Amino acid sequence: MASSSLCGYLVLAVLVVLTASCRARDTFAPGRPLATNETLVSGGDANFVLGFFTPPGANNTYVGVWYNKVSVRTVVWVANREDPLPGDVADNPGATLSVSPSGTLVIAAGNSTVVWSFTPATKLASPMARILDNGNLVLADAGGAVAWQGFDYPTDTLLPEMKLGIDYVKGRNRTLTAWKSPSDPSPGPVVMAMDTSGDPQVFIWNGAEKVWRSGPWDGVQFTGVPDTVTYSGFTFSFINNAKEVTYSFQVHNVSIISRLGLNSTGNYGLLQRSTWVEAAGAWNLYWYAPKDQCDAVSPCGTNGVCDTNNVPVCSCLRGFTPKSPEAWALRDGRDGCLRSTPLDCKNGTDGFVAVKHAKGKLDDGQEIAVKTLSKTSVQGLEEFKNEVLLIAKLQHRNLVRLLGFSISGQERILVYEYMANKSLDYFLFEKSNSVLLDWQVRYRIIEGITRGLLYLHQDSRYRIIHRDLKASNVLLDKEMTPKISDFGMARMFGSEETEINTRKVVGTYGYMSPEYAMDGVFSVKSDVFSFGVLLLEIISGRRNRGVYSYSNHLNLLGHVSSNHLPHAYMQLADETMNNSFDSDEVLKCITVGLLCVQENPDDRPLMSQVLLMLATTDATTLPTPKQPGFAARRILMETDTSSSKPDCSIFDSATVTILEGRQHANA
Ligand SMILES: *[C@@H]1O[C@H](CO)[C@@H](O)[C@H](O)[C@H]1NC(C)=O
Ligand SMILES: *[C@@H]1O[C@H](CO)[C@@H](O)[C@H](O)[C@H]1NC(C)=O
Ligand SMILES: *[C@@H]1O[C@H](CO)[C@@H](O)[C@H](O)[C@H]1NC(C)=O
Ligand SMILES: *[C@@H]1O[C@H](CO)[C@@H](O)[C@H](O)[C@H]1NC(C)=O
Ligand SMILES: *[C@@H]1O[C@H](CO)[C@@H](O)[C@H](O)[C@H]1NC(C)=O
Ligand SMILES: *[C@@H]1O[C@H](CO)[C@@H](O)[C@H](O)[C@H]1NC(C)=O
Ligand SMILES: *[C@@H]1O[C@H](CO)[C@@H](O)[C@H](O)[C@H]1NC(C)=O
Ligand SMILES: *[C@@H]1O[C@H](CO)[C@@H](O)[C@H](O)[C@H]1NC(C)=O
Ligand SMILES: *[C@@H]1O[C@H](CO)[C@@H](O)[C@H](O)[C@H]1NC(C)=O
Repeated sequence: MASSSLCGYLVLAVLVVLTASCRARDTFAPGRPLATNETLVSGGDANFVLGFFTPPGANNTYVGVWYNKVSVRTVVWVANREDPLPGDVADNPGATLSVSPSGTLVIAAGNSTVVWSFTPATKLASPMARILDNGNLVLADAGGAVAWQGFDYPTDTLLPEMKLGIDYVKGRNRTLTAWKSPSDPSPGPVVMAMDTSGDPQVFIWNGAEKVWRSGPWDGVQFTGVPDTVTYSGFTFSFINNAKEVTYSFQVHNVSIISRLGLNSTGNYGLLQRSTWVEAAGAWNLYWYAPKDQCDAVSPCGTNGVCDTNNVPVCSCLRGFTPKSPEAWALRDGRDGCLRSTPLDCKNGTDGFVAVKHAKGKLDDGQEIAVKTLSKTSVQGLEEFKNEVLLIAKLQHRNLVRLLGFSISGQERILVYEYMANKSLDYFLFEKSNSVLLDWQVRYRIIEGITRGLLYLHQDSRYRIIHRDLKASNVLLDKEMTPKISDFGMARMFGSEETEINTRKVVGTYGYMSPEYAMDGVFSVKSDVFSFGVLLLEIISGRRNRGVYSYSNHLNLLGHVSSNHLPHAYMQLADETMNNSFDSDEVLKCITVGLLCVQENPDDRPLMSQVLLMLATTDATTLPTPKQPGFAARRILMETDTSSSKPDCSIFDSATVTILEGRQHANA
């Protein structure tokens, strides 16, 4: 017994010694270079290794960073991709990676010949290089100031937290460049970079040719990568300001190893997102681009249609013929199509494609919705043109898409994408329908509207105020994804303008902010007010203006805000949800709703802040909402019977202004 337990202690002691001596360092400093027979391992979770390596099939040696916990060596960053040491690692016993006393990074051969070096712009008093747990090699002064980092010089892989794009402050244009081949890390012709010449978007080039584009960022994802939103567990971020235009991503669960790699040799696309699956001992590819011929940049040119189900994939719109038939015959449609007959709307040659099957499918099978505006429509020609021009330029998952339009005499037609589930008011305010909206669905709808409105306000190329956000203008597709519609009242505003004054007050009573209804001043904050009202309606299942039954003739806003206690807030929740909801989430949403309807526009959050607030898990960290607009006045008017006339007339005049406004609009 005694001897066996003694033996156990000995084994344990040996293990402890081994562990201590095997724990690799994560830094190198002047006088302590890294030799080819050692590696640095990042601190923290020991996720990454820095060391010398020879790619399979090569006879060159490089310094690179690879995963520590991925059994198939996967290099994510290479320092000297164009300046290797000749021979494999074993051929270079005396080679080193070092940092000089002044802070120059150096890779030197065994005979001390320098093959690669980097001198940072600032001279360092006491330099030290460290491999961080996110894969970043940083060169810093002992004081901590980072003078250089590997993340500013990406190779072919974008790691979580790494930024692709332009850093105007550092003057860095961070791009990915694929290896020439799996045995040659030197830069090949395939490059991925942020293009800022128009709306910023990511392009992939193969040599001089653009082979893929991401489309502009819509606030949540790139428009050309619409499946991104389905990735749970990731945060994607796009920053576009005076300091940087960058894209990056983060993975919530630190034990998930995920990378975005640019690859000129893979069978699946050029850009690949993959995640390491330890049990399989392999990378699981779960997204790639380009996916097919139609995913290329304008494969069929202007007026061309690309469809991978057709052979050849390119065809021309009706009334158009290929610009260069010779090229098209050789399956190259990039020149596009030219009109073969003059534009003729009168004779019925051009115009809408006949709709077979009774609304709603186009020839290509797409379901559509047709909105016909009657001759006596409240919407004037101006509003109609406004809507068409605006919406044609907008593309976002949470905005309804306009597919076409027609103006013929007095008749005006808009063709929208088809919305299987009508509009939000149809579900919300009919008790028999509202049972279909459980809390998860309502919450998803709230998030969707938030994103759509954020896109309009901040992220689209055109800054837009909707001016008529309400439940009936939120359409629902077959998956109950909300889509903001009806841009007849929308206004575009310049990036310098923050508010606009109008004599023409248009919009819907119950959703209109006080400053807009009374003074005709509208800004993004008037949309935020309408959003707040809508949010409270979604939670309560009641119309703002319809709720007079509670007490003291308060409307919905007045009712909510007069119940300041959280448990009283909760009574607001639509009873058709049977109390089966996450009450923290409901409380959070009610608070956000109340913050949006505050009387003073400056107190109301921006939609970007709303999105952040919805993302916080703890409602108690949110600010306490002040009095909502209108409700306060109404309370004053309704409860203070001795109230002097001016208070009443303020409210009355608001009502009058609204009525006048609508008449104006109708005229
Ligand atoms: C690495 O190689 C050098 C000689 O080049 C040797 O002195 C040193 O002990 C080796 N270190 C390890 C950890 O093997
Ligand atoms: C690899 O390169 C080294 C140094 O240039 C050379 O000595 C060696 O013969 C090469 N080996 C092969 C297999 O080509
Ligand atoms: C030193 O080593 C490098 C790399 O192995 C080689 O290219 C160079 O010719 C060598 N120089 C001398 C003087 O031996
Ligand atoms: C960044 O690099 C890409 C690819 O080389 C280039 O197309 C783009 O214009 C560059 N952007 C800037 C701002 O230099
Ligand atoms: C994180 O991922 C690991 C590996 O897939 C899994 O075992 C673990 O449960 C995940 N943790 C959380 C909090 O989701
Ligand atoms: C490129 O593809 C090859 C073959 O599928 C794979 O081994 C390699 O890891 C890929 N590289 C990147 C950066 O994704
Ligand atoms: C429209 O039809 C009329 C009568 O058939 C014809 O004279 C005219 O040229 C046509 N217009 C166009 C643009 O084809
Ligand atoms: C929404 O529409 C789809 C497709 O028509 C239908 O299957 C689904 O039941 C509808 N959802 C609700 C809540 O009515
Ligand atoms: C609430 O309960 C009623 C009656 O039990 C049921 O018909 C309804 O579907 C429930 N609503 C939800 C959202 O679960």
